[in-house]
Amino acid sequence: MNILQINGSARQQGANSTLLADRISERLLQENPGARLQVLDLASNPVPVFDDAAITALFTPADQRNAQQQARADQSMALVKQLQQADVLVLGVPMYNFGISSQLKDWIDNVSLNQVTFRYTANGPEGLLQNKRALVGFARGGLYRGTEADTQTPYFKAWLKFVGIEDVQFVYAEGLNMGDEANKAGFASAEQDLARALAR
Ligand SMILES: Cc1cc2nc3c(=O)[nH]c(=O)nc-3n(C[C@H](O)[C@H](O)[C@H](O)COP(=O)(O)O)c2cc1C
Repeated sequence: MNILQINGSARQQGANSTLLADRISERLLQENPGARLQVLDLASNPVPVFDDAAITALFTPADQRNAQQQARADQSMALVKQLQQADVLVLGVPMYNFGISSQLKDWIDNVSLNQVTFRYTANGPEGLLQNKRALVGFARGGLYRGTEADTQTPYFKAWLKFVGIEDVQFVYAEGLNMGDEANKAGFASAEQDLARALAR
C-alpha cells in the first residue's frame, strides 16, 4: 500500500494541519505494516503556481507545445504521476480565511487535468483516479464543523469525487487557537474521528 501525504500548510514549522496529517499517516502505517509513505510538504517544496503560463501550456496539445510549455506541463504531470501511484491520499488541510492555503490550491489545480484525472462524458464528468481512498485532516483555529462556514468539507467532497476518489473520510481538529484547553480538546476529538475512520 502506498500512502501519499500532502502537507497543505503554508508553514514549514509548527503547522497544526501537518501535525494532524502526520498522525493520520502514523496510524495508517500502524494498521498496515509494510505500507510505504511519501510526504510532499508544500511549504518547503511548493508546487509551481497555476498561472497563465500553466494553463496555456496544459491546454496546448502536446504535439504543439514549445519547449517551455512542455517543461511546464511535465511539472504538473509529475505531480499527477505521484498521485496515481498512491493507494491512500492523506491531506493536511489548514483553514485560512474560510478557504484553503494557496499552496494546497495550487497542488489541486496542478493535478486536476482533463483526460488525465477526469474527463467529461455525455453523462457528465467522470473521475479517472480509481481505487483510491482519501483521509482528509482539517486543522482550524475556530469551530466550524457542521456549519455553513465550513466551506472545506463540501469542497473536498466535490473535488475528490470529481477526480474519482469516493472513499473519503474526514478528521477535524478544531478550536486550535481558542486557548490550551480548546486546543487539546480539538486534537482529542480528531483522534476520535481518526479511530472511527480506521475502525470501519
Ligand atoms: C492566514 C491565516 C488565516 C486563517 N484563517 C482562519 C479561518 O478563517 N478560520 C479559522 O478557524 N482559523 C483560521 N486560521 C487559523 C488556522 O486555521 C490554524 O492556524 C490552524 O492551525 C491551521 O493552520 P496550520 O496548519 O498552518 O497550523 C488562519 C491562520 C492563518 C495563518
